[in-house]
Amino acid sequence: MPSLIIMFPLFIILTLQTSLTAGVKNPNPPVFLLPLIKDKATSLYYTNLNLGNNNQSPLTHSLAVDIGGGSSVLLRCNTAAKSTTYLPIGCNSARCKQAKPDLLCFNKTNTCGKYVSTSFTEHPLNTLLGLDSVSLLTLKPNGVTNTVHSSLTLACTNDANALKLMPEVVNGTIGLGKSSISLLSQLASMHRIRRNFALCLPSKPAGLGSLHIGGGSVYTNDVSKSLASTPLIVDGKSGEYFIDVNSIEIAGKIIPLDKKSRGNAMICTLAPYTVLQTSIYKALVREVVRETKMLRAAKVKPFEACFSSKGMRLAASVPVIDLVVNGGAKWRINPWNSMVKMKGDVVCLGFLDGGVNMKTTEMVIGGFQMEDHVVEFDLESSKFSFSSSLLLHNTSCSHK
Ligand SMILES: *[C@@H]1O[C@H](CO)[C@@H](O)[C@H](O)[C@H]1NC(C)=O
Ligand SMILES: *[C@@H]1O[C@H](CO)[C@@H](O)[C@H](O)[C@H]1NC(C)=O
Ligand SMILES: *[C@@H]1O[C@H](CO)[C@@H](O)[C@H](O)[C@H]1NC(C)=O
Repeated sequence: MPSLIIMFPLFIILTLQTSLTAGVKNPNPPVFLLPLIKDKATSLYYTNLNLGNNNQSPLTHSLAVDIGGGSSVLLRCNTAAKSTTYLPIGCNSARCKQAKPDLLCFNKTNTCGKYVSTSFTEHPLNTLLGLDSVSLLTLKPNGVTNTVHSSLTLACTNDANALKLMPEVVNGTIGLGKSSISLLSQLASMHRIRRNFALCLPSKPAGLGSLHIGGGSVYTNDVSKSLASTPLIVDGKSGEYFIDVNSIEIAGKIIPLDKKSRGNAMICTLAPYTVLQTSIYKALVREVVRETKMLRAAKVKPFEACFSSKGMRLAASVPVIDLVVNGGAKWRINPWNSMVKMKGDVVCLGFLDGGVNMKTTEMVIGGFQMEDHVVEFDLESSKFSFSSSLLLHNTSCSHK
């Protein structure tokens, strides 16, 4: 059996090479591409992912994007169990240990669990962990796409109260937070990609937007070469993303934000519209009403400031709103990102009153204000970058 003798040292060399390259960045890391769809009824952004069932007959799940979410995929436990390849993770397994901290062990079934942060529940959710195959599209610089199957740690929950808060139109969420088992963290350690992701949220339900993981906005388009940026602040406990907004400017008027804490503006893709603390909200409404050259219309819930746009061009009638971020860059919100089209010719200012005492921040930047912009979260350089509106560059985030 001479072949065994020959193979043995070869095996050692191969193992040695693998271990030498571990920890080093992949020289040609893949970029993962998830197409995003805007749900018309809820204004949520979701992706369709194929999970489990041996790739021959995978189950397609619609999963809302929760950028601060702590689990790669979070499902109802009965949904997760539909896949014949779903395997609960045991308490003493290496996968369970990788999911640290906040681990749980359900002793009766010897199943590993974890407290997982989400943007739709106030407190981390009690979940069970399991393993299943997830197919993802990768993109090469030359535009060639490929499908990669990764065996990922998923979380599922039976918490009825939390499930009531989970958007009904989807089967679950995907999470890109800093947690050890988020989609970002698992893909980064498995494929040695850069810890970053970029979003291009579509404004139209008919087109496809994109979420790029690992390559930042490099592949999005030319606009991504001229991004402005500000420090990205990651909450150590929840793994959610924040930036500092120093003030809001409208037609030369400055509304200062009171920066009690570092990271006063959370960025949240599960919030359809930006939410402001009451005093800031009132000041914003006052200035927008003063500067808008359209007749006031009756309010349409949940909005307060509505106008009749009959015969008017939005761009000429509505003031731009600038968010002045830490470092001085301005995130410009143009009329098409501030005014929501309602029935008839009515448009409403698409911001919401979050009450006098918002929990952790003064501002939650929601999806509508990010549409048709490239926004990039880079955890390695702790930088949040944003483009101007793609509509100014004759393009958009909605592709066929
Ligand atoms: C599970 O077992 C561990 C160790 O045996 C014990 O510390 C823990 O309290 C048990 N948990 C439950 C929920 O019973
Ligand atoms: C996802 O949810 C939809 C609507 O509730 C349902 O019809 C579909 O079967 C679910 N998909 C999976 C894989 O559970
Ligand atoms: C966008 O398109 C319009 C009309 O086709 C053209 O006038 C304008 O110059 C273009 N702008 C840019 C930035 O390409």
